[in-house]
Amino acid sequence: MEGAIVIGVGALEGVGAAAARRFARGGLHAFLAGRTAEKLEAVAAQIGSEGGSATAVPTDCTEPGAVTALFERVEKDTGAPPRLVLYNAGNNFPKDILEMTDDEFEGSWRVCGFGAFLSGREAARRMVPNGGGTLIFTGATASVRSRPPFIAFASAKAAERAIAHGLARQFGPKGLHVAHLIIDGVILGDQIKSRFPAVVDHLGEDGMLSTDGIADAMWMLHQQEPTTWTLELDLRPYKETF
Ligand SMILES: NC(=O)c1ccc[n+]([C@@H]2O[C@H](COP(=O)([O-])OP(=O)(O)OC[C@H]3O[C@@H](n4cnc5c(N)ncnc54)[C@H](OP(=O)(O)O)[C@@H]3O)[C@@H](O)[C@H]2O)c1
Repeated sequence: MEGAIVIGVGALEGVGAAAARRFARGGLHAFLAGRTAEKLEAVAAQIGSEGGSATAVPTDCTEPGAVTALFERVEKDTGAPPRLVLYNAGNNFPKDILEMTDDEFEGSWRVCGFGAFLSGREAARRMVPNGGGTLIFTGATASVRSRPPFIAFASAKAAERAIAHGLARQFGPKGLHVAHLIIDGVILGDQIKSRFPAVVDHLGEDGMLSTDGIADAMWMLHQQEPTTWTLELDLRPYKETF
């Protein structure tokens, strides 16, 4: 069975978990990478209960050795590099730039920028010699527009987008489909429900992006035939003004 890696899996109600479920339904073995083993095990169990297969691989995506070990694990278990990789880790925290510490700013870049570089490099090194595949990055409105109080996050997401675009130009012709997804709105998931419940009430369920809808879009990207590849796709609820 071919493998799919999802980097940045946490809550059951998150994009990472939804994408892993979708990829498993598509017949791939899902390797779930995130910081919290219990969360990964819960997602793996859910995929198993739906008839899919998944393996939890606790991974800090900002650690070069851990990212290498993740890809090695896939090759050991499936006999080949992954066919599909999603880089989904994110760490948005709104804060006024005047109050932001050096460590907070750098932390933002470490997850969205440096982590995207590590995973993108590892994917290209291994997938291109194996005939390619799909490499998707989850972006945000902030990937293309910086505004307070999201300046640190926007600078980090812009870095991630630049990595995706550069990788697409270098490795697309060698069979690696690189895509960057701009999530232009609030995701109806664990993050918003637990941190900003008032926003959920204000927007209403159909004013936010569904995690399963996002996951379906990712699977569509993976299914595209090579003469019609998408590099950038933006998704927003029909109600969103933009
Ligand atoms: N939520 C939104 O409204 C929204 C809007 C636009 C774009 N996005 C983007 O969409 C993506 C998914 O967001 P989501 O809110 O649905 O979250 P999610 O998919 O549930 O989870 C993202 C996961 O990234 C993990 N992560 C953070 N730092 C990591 C690290 N160093 N190593 C490994 N994993 C790490 C977090 O792990 P822990 O669980 O351990 O913290 C979190 O669970 C993110 O890229 C985000 O920027 C989100």
